[in-house]
Amino acid sequence: MTQNELKQAVARAALDYVVADRLVGVGTGSTANFFIDALAGMKDRIRGAVASSEATRQRLEGHGIRVFDLNEVDDLPVYVDGADEINVEMHMTKGGGGALTREKIVAAVAQKFVCIVDESKLVPVLGRFPLPVEVIPLARAHVARQLAQLGGTPQWREGFVTDNGNLILDVHGLSIVDPVALETQINQIAGVVANGLFARRPADVCLLGRSTGVSTLI
Ligand code: 5RP
Repeated sequence: MTQNELKQAVARAALDYVVADRLVGVGTGSTANFFIDALAGMKDRIRGAVASSEATRQRLEGHGIRVFDLNEVDDLPVYVDGADEINVEMHMTKGGGGALTREKIVAAVAQKFVCIVDESKLVPVLGRFPLPVEVIPLARAHVARQLAQLGGTPQWREGFVTDNGNLILDVHGLSIVDPVALETQINQIAGVVANGLFARRPADVCLLGRSTGVSTLI
C-alpha cells in the first residue's frame, strides 16, 4: 500500500469515533483531508464540525459541512487529527502544516483525541521531525536564541505566516526524551505562542495504518 492509501485507511477508520448528531473537531494536513473527505459521506448524521485551520474550514465547507466557531461550542466529544511523529505513550509532534496552535486549542476542548497516522510516524523517541514553534514576529530572534540554549537548531520557516499572523521556528536536532517537560519549558519562553509537542494532552487513541491493516493503540 502507498502512504496515501494508509492515510486513507486510518481516516476512514476514524469515522467510527464520530458521534451521531454531535460536533466533531477536525485537524489539519493530508491525513486530516482524507478524514474530511470521508466525513462528507456522513455529513447528514452529524451536527457539524470545528476546524483547526482556515484550510480545514474551507475543505469542510466545500463538502457542505457546517463549521462552528469554537467559542460557540462547550461540548466536543471527539477531535480527529494527524501527527508528524507519535510515540507509544501517545505523545506527538505536530505542526508540520503550521496549524499547531489552533490544533492544540481544539484538542484541549475535545473529550477524546483520535490520532490518525501511517506507520512511518510511530517512533521510539520524538525529535527526528523538527519541532515547530509558533512565535510572535517581534520575538523571533529572542526565541531562537532560547531554543538554541535548549540544544536545538532553530530554523525560521521563511515566507510562512500562520492563521494567527505569527511565524514558525522549526527546531532541528532535539532528542526529546521527556516530551512533557520540554513542552512546558518551551511554553515559558516569552514570545512563544505554542509549540508542537502534544504531550501534556496526548492522544487517547491512535489509529495506525500498516500494510497489514489498521491497528488501534490505546
Ligand atoms: C499540521 C499537523 C499535521 O497533523 C501533521 O503535519 C501531519 O500532516 P500529514 O497528515 O499531512 O502528514 O500537525 O499542523
